[in-house]
Amino acid sequence: MSAGPSRRGILAGMGAAGAAGLAAGGLWGAGAARQDPDPAREMTLSRSGPREGLPPALVTPTPAHVHVVALDLTEDAPKGSAHRAGRVLELWQQDIDALHGDGLDGVVEGAPTLGLRPASLGVTLGLGGALLDRAGLAERRPDALARPPAFAADRLRPELCDGDLMLHVGAEDPVVVSAVVRHLVGRVRDHARVRWALPGFQRHAVTAEDPSATPRNLMGQIDGTVNPHPREAVFAPQVLAAHTDPATAWMDGGSYVVVRRIRMALDGWFDLSPEDRERVVGRRLDDGAPLGGTREDDRPDLAARDGDGNPVIPADAHIRLASPENTLGARMLRRGFNYDLGWGPDGRANTGLLFTAWQADPRTAFTAVQRALDEGGDALNAHIVHEGGAVFAVPPIREGEPRAAHDLWP
Ligand code: HEM
Repeated sequence: MSAGPSRRGILAGMGAAGAAGLAAGGLWGAGAARQDPDPAREMTLSRSGPREGLPPALVTPTPAHVHVVALDLTEDAPKGSAHRAGRVLELWQQDIDALHGDGLDGVVEGAPTLGLRPASLGVTLGLGGALLDRAGLAERRPDALARPPAFAADRLRPELCDGDLMLHVGAEDPVVVSAVVRHLVGRVRDHARVRWALPGFQRHAVTAEDPSATPRNLMGQIDGTVNPHPREAVFAPQVLAAHTDPATAWMDGGSYVVVRRIRMALDGWFDLSPEDRERVVGRRLDDGAPLGGTREDDRPDLAARDGDGNPVIPADAHIRLASPENTLGARMLRRGFNYDLGWGPDGRANTGLLFTAWQADPRTAFTAVQRALDEGGDALNAHIVHEGGAVFAVPPIREGEPRAAHDLWP
């Protein structure tokens, strides 16, 4: 994590206190992860504590439940928008601090979480690009925060896209997630309303035979194998943003998250033979090994041919097209969660992947990969549809910096 210039330094260089209050001061420290002290859980999870300064959403192990909520500010003139955004962030920061100290029971009398442990509760906040424009901060908006171009797999519905602010709440228990989201959204109801929201889940460590195993998505695939790890030297350059320009330095050391609501056509998926399902992704269903390999962490052999001269990993297999070899080295940290909203009015399963990808710059990561998936005719595209999408800037949490800077809001 780069240390970056001090907040005071940025403010001094900025001149406009209002702008600084929103873009620089507001999100410093806007995240908190509460680790569960339960010794029983200690035994079931291989734990690594939060890396200093990493948004809680990036801490491993990932929680079993998340809820990603996008909110829009109430319409206002630019100055009003900046003020409202500052107020929302201030209110959330107060509550995040209180939650961190006391859990929800300490914040709300009679909360549904009474008797529950926070269980790895983590709250992460993000800013949408439109908010910065609306608040008169367009020149402080990093180019990396631009909306990605349209892709072949997109059937995006505007009401499921974008948003001024992102609230990302994760915890082991869905009651904790639900109660915390409801509380935080309720706290800012005078200033912002929910635009879209999507709860996601993955298998719980308690039910997993091997809690350290990579989880499976609802298509049954082991999903999340190839990902940078915070221990690796490549993690920071791939996942954390580097901004030396003073105008965008508020995001130096932060991360850009691309969120996608990707519906899976599950009704017919399991009618395909297991071999056909394996060819779609290019990995085996049972152990996640690349086709032609023997272990999940084997490097896919993209040059291998079978006896007939055909590629062992098909030309349109998802992992071939998404590989760094095919995308000029594009990398991101993918954190996928399942969603299952039952069946839609069309009688089809309303299920899929709450895809989140964290990167230093979406233009050279998410967008580069999605473009390669399009151009190569990703075999997965016949079974999925992107219905929602957004990009948010998640600024860094810097130790030693003052928390929400109330005195700076306009
Ligand atoms: C419902 C949609 C999707 C499903 C079911 C899915 C599933 C998978 C699976 C099973 C793997 C192999 C295991 C792994 O490495 O995690 C994989 C790899 C990967 N996917 Fe996806 N994926 C989806 C969408 C996307 C999207 C939208 C992107 C980015 C634009 C993406 C980027 C990648 C990358 C970069 C890899 C690793 C490739 C490599 O081996 O180097 N995926 N995906």
